Parts: sequence; structure tokens; C-alpha cells
Amino acid sequence: MILIVGGAGYIGAHVNKELSRQGYETIVFDNLSFGHADFVKWGVFEEGDLNNIDDIRGVFKKYPIDAVMHFAAFTYVGESVDDPQKYYLNNLGNTLNLLRVMLEEGVKYFVFSSTCATYGTPEEIPITENHPQKPISPYGKGKFMVEQILEDYSRAYNLEYVSLRYFNAAGADPEAEIGELHVPETHLIPLTLDAAADKRKHIKIFGTDYPTADGTCIRDYIHVQDLADAHIKALHYLQKGGSSDVFNLGNGQGFSVREVIESARKVTGKDIMVEEVDRRPGDPPVLVGSSDKARDILNWQPKYHELSTIIETAWKWHQKRD
Ligand code: UFG
Repeated sequence: MILIVGGAGYIGAHVNKELSRQGYETIVFDNLSFGHADFVKWGVFEEGDLNNIDDIRGVFKKYPIDAVMHFAAFTYVGESVDDPQKYYLNNLGNTLNLLRVMLEEGVKYFVFSSTCATYGTPEEIPITENHPQKPISPYGKGKFMVEQILEDYSRAYNLEYVSLRYFNAAGADPEAEIGELHVPETHLIPLTLDAAADKRKHIKIFGTDYPTADGTCIRDYIHVQDLADAHIKALHYLQKGGSSDVFNLGNGQGFSVREVIESARKVTGKDIMVEEVDRRPGDPPVLVGSSDKARDILNWQPKYHELSTIIETAWKWHQKRD
């Protein structure tokens, strides 16, 4: 069975659906602090906290676990700067608890949700896996520390891992059963769709004086279904004897904030109002990744690379969820 830690959250729930569709038996472990109970539509659900090692041990004793996928983390970059301890205790400390029980129980395969935030401010675009890692936020640093700890653990113990460095996860399940929902919401696409649905007056554009063609930040939006597919390919890779490694997961194409909003106008047919405000601290102007390594080694091919398709799936779910 596959243990999905944080499987009630945005990305974990999509991976759970895809694993189940492909015939895997899954266990979702989540404390529901940010996850949604109604996203756990597949597999079995075990409510528990990574902070409590007995909760983790209980699940490993109860089920025959072959592999672990770990999504549970706090993800607000700005908050991590204001309250680093909160991030290190959860994203780093609680991950060590999980790894500790995996080692106790001899579970060998681990797929870890890392992030392009481990690179810090990019020195060149597109960012490859060999780009220097100089994270600038406690969020990025905590993820980077876990990546380094995994290197040590895999060398010393019988553990094989894949770390997946996501760029901007976006979109929703094409069947609109689950989608992107954070409380509070800070991400561009869901907030833009809230504006389209008249749930907010406008979308704020954070900074229009960046050194980009239209002055707004450029990001690499990767569809959550393509992320789900990559996780399963990473699992197959490990199960077939692939050695521990890291892979970027992005679209390879960048879109500006204005392009995202314009595409959302076309997809929704709504006139989305914008307010131009100052830059948000800590946002690099351009983040675009090269995912050639995942394409070559994992045989991964993103299917939902059009921005309009990404937004269409998000909009379909956004309308259905109300
Ligand atoms: N943006 C706006 N207005 C908003 C929200 C966002 O203009 O209301 C802009 C941001 O400034 C940024 C872009 O839209 O340029 C995308 O912002 P998001 O908040 O949607 O995503 P981020 O790029 O900040 O964050 C993502 C992931 C994080 C990860 C980070 C790495 O969501 O988990 O990339 O840099 F850490």
C-alpha cells in the first residue's frame, strides 16, 4: 500500500486519485489542519499528526506500507519569514519523525515534495537541477535541508528517495472532483477566479515594474494532474531499482501575471478587474524550470501545458465547488 502523508491537501489529493485510478491501494494520513476531509474520496483515511510519533507508528503497524509520498507542509513563504520556527518544526522536524518510523519499519521508498523555492533567486533561466541552491526563505531552506538529509539517509540506511521540485502547481482535476483550495488563499489563479466569480472585487497585481516584457512576474505553471502523473512515474522508477535523485517539475514555459489574468478573462468570459499595487516582498521576477531530466529519466510528459487548459480545469472546479 502507498501511504500519502498530507493526502487531503491540494496536490496529495490529486495524487491519491491517480494512484487509485491506476489500481494502487492508498492510505491518506492527514491532520486536516489545512487538508479537506472531503478531498479524501479514495483509499482509507487515518487522521493523525506527524508531530505525534505514536500516530505515525500506529499507521505503519496497521498497514503493509510499500512506499511513502510526503506532501504535508506549511507553504506560505511570507509567513515562514515572520515565523520560521513554525516552518522548521513542521516541514523539517515532523518530516524527520516520518523518516524515523520509515527506518524503524524498513520501508524503503520515499517521494518528497520539494520546491523551486530551494533555488532562491535564479542566476539563470531555465533553472536546471544543477542550479545552485541558495534558498532565501525559511520555507525554501527547510525543504532544502530535508533534501540534504535524504542524501545522508539514503547513503547510510536502506532508503531510496526521489525529491520533486515543483514550480507553480495549478489547475484542478479534469473531472472537477477536487481542486485548489487554500484557506487563506494567496495564489494567483484561484484569487483571479474568485474575482471572475464576483467573490472579490478585483485581483491585485503585485508589482508592475519588474524587468519583464509587461512588467509583471513570470512563473512556470504546471498542471496538478501532470504533477500527479510524475509522482507515480517516480514511484515506478524507485520500484524498478532507480537510484535516489531529484527532478524539477515544471512546464518549461513562463507566463506573466498579466497573461494569467488575460487568459482567465477569456476562459471565464468575465471582465476581471485588477488593481496594480507594490511588489510582494520575496518574489523573484522570473521562475521557469527545465524539466528535461524528468522527461528523460522518468519518461514524464506534461499533458496540460496550455495556460488556458490549466485555467479551464481550475474554473470548472471553482464553479462546481460552490
Ligand atoms: N500574485 C499577484 N497577486 C496575487 C497573488 C499572486 O500578483 O494576489 C503574483 C505573485 O506576485 C507571483 C505570481 O502571482 O508573481 C504567482 O504567485 P503565487 O502566490 O500564486 O505563487 P508563488 O510563485 O508565490 O508561489 C509558488 C508556490 C509556493 C512556492 C513558490 C516558490 O505556491 O509554494 O512558488 O517560489 F514556494
